[in-house]
Amino acid sequence: MRGHALHSQVDMHRAYGGVVPELASRDHIRRLLPLTDFALKQAEVRLQEVDAIAYTRGPGLAGALLVGAGVASALGMALGKPLIGVHHLEGHLLSPLLSKQAPSFPFLALLVSGGHTMLLDVQAFGQYTLLGETVDDAAGEAFDKSAKLLGLGYPGGPELARLAAFGNALAFELPRPKMHSPDLDFSFAGLKTAVLTKVRGLGSNLCEQSRADLAAAAQEAITDVLVHKTLRAQQATKRLSVVVAGGVGANRQLREKLSSALSVRGVQLFFPELEWCTDNGAMIALAGALRLQAHPGAARAAGPFDVLPRWDLTQIDVK
Ligand code: KG4
Ligand code: ZN
Repeated sequence: MRGHALHSQVDMHRAYGGVVPELASRDHIRRLLPLTDFALKQAEVRLQEVDAIAYTRGPGLAGALLVGAGVASALGMALGKPLIGVHHLEGHLLSPLLSKQAPSFPFLALLVSGGHTMLLDVQAFGQYTLLGETVDDAAGEAFDKSAKLLGLGYPGGPELARLAAFGNALAFELPRPKMHSPDLDFSFAGLKTAVLTKVRGLGSNLCEQSRADLAAAAQEAITDVLVHKTLRAQQATKRLSVVVAGGVGANRQLREKLSSALSVRGVQLFFPELEWCTDNGAMIALAGALRLQAHPGAARAAGPFDVLPRWDLTQIDVK
């Protein structure tokens, strides 16, 4: 990694309690070129020297994707450089390779972000087998929605984790949906409903301590399910390296529980540093660079472009 720049929109979204798509894409327009300049300066590379331009082709909000694809395409045309459209989740999946302590293929990946919860067997670059995924809400959504019910701000995950540190997880009993089902799928919608029921039940008795207790119980339930299913997937695949990627990977309790559960089995656990866990451009550039290396023909001449707001990770065209 030669250079990297990031502008977080979290402060802007916090004011509205969530992502406002139009504001997100307008802000992307403002930030993209100055950030590109910054990263190039840091890398001591001139724009003319890059081999190709990688951008996020999907999935995600169409407006935000169009900004990235449009700028990449314009740069590609002006410079005569080819483009590589990257899948957002492939970026997350490979982000641990940016880490100082990087895993090698093959590995088992738990991908936990605001929109996705998946277990994938990663045999090699570009070879991903989906083992299981959420049938309703994502783990990040479970954190965010529970946080909202507890009156916490955006983004809910880290706020809920902070409050949970003062609570007793045993004070409330919450369900662990699908935890004991034999498949590797997840379900978190019922958990949010259970938190809602507890909040309603307490009514005006929802004091500071019971909010912290509920936060702790919710975090415990979410991480229990994630750890349990990851262990089951490890048993099924016998992979000796497990990687956790995506924003929820920043959760400390998840990290601690997983590392103690896996270390007794002699399995190595890899977490990207926090800056690579949440959305970043370096992971997209890395996925693009690896694709270019493996399939030089994957880069396309700049020209008319499209974005794929809905795009299945197992459907990526690797060549
Ligand atoms: O991967 P990400 O940055 O964005 C995408 O969804 O692609 O993930 C964001 C999600 C949000 O749901 C956020 O609440 C959650 O990651 N998150 C956390 C923590 N940090 C971020 N959830 C639990 N504990 C955290 N420390
Ligand atoms: Zn993401």
